[in-house]
Amino acid sequence: MQIKQFRYGADNLGYLVFDETRAIAIDAGAVADMTDFAEKHKVTIACVTNTHLHPDHTGSNARMLEKTGAAFLDCTTFAQDQQILLDKEALRVILTPGHTRDSVCFAGDDFLVTGDTLFNGTVGNCFSGDLEAFFHSIKKLVGFPGHTRIFAGHDYVRESLEIAAALDPDNPDIAGYLEKYDPLLVVSTLADELLVNPFLRYNSQAMTAKLTQRNFPCTTEKERFISLMEAF
Ligand SMILES: [Fe+2]
Repeated sequence: MQIKQFRYGADNLGYLVFDETRAIAIDAGAVADMTDFAEKHKVTIACVTNTHLHPDHTGSNARMLEKTGAAFLDCTTFAQDQQILLDKEALRVILTPGHTRDSVCFAGDDFLVTGDTLFNGTVGNCFSGDLEAFFHSIKKLVGFPGHTRIFAGHDYVRESLEIAAALDPDNPDIAGYLEKYDPLLVVSTLADELLVNPFLRYNSQAMTAKLTQRNFPCTTEKERFISLMEAF
């Protein structure tokens, strides 16, 4: 199973996941680049889907479907652990409400496509207003192996790491994370995220100290995550 990242718009990232002959387009904003790539690599874009229904992710669905004749998989109808078949392997759907109620992630063999739920360096805004659901979604993601590659829906790396550095100036891992940043391939591992991403570090001393300082509740893991989302 392979994954190819495509940039479009100001900072959006979309993906083709493919094996021998079949590809799935996720957030297909870069229609021409994706179809050119598919043609060159002799794979057929068999289905088009989204990480959630925000227009910067869905805006090119119609054009991609028209150009490829692919099937549309509506992300609001997915079930937890639903499989989307390629030739031999399958992508697995992880329901991750929080950024929006309909947000999903896709688990490949050693990667996650995380949309606007988890970014490289931060997490998405809580448009749905349900921070408790967001916490449970984040818990599902941090349960993956540390080597899992994180492919997000936007490149917010520089601004996110500035915030991370402001919140945790003594964090020795931020500089190394930034050194690895490449706008031509925006990716990190879950292990990297657990070292620098303030919103995944709800159990760290640095974040707990910040919350205590500002009198935010921080007794349980869930409280600390929700407090971090509310405070910063
Ligand atoms: Fe979004």
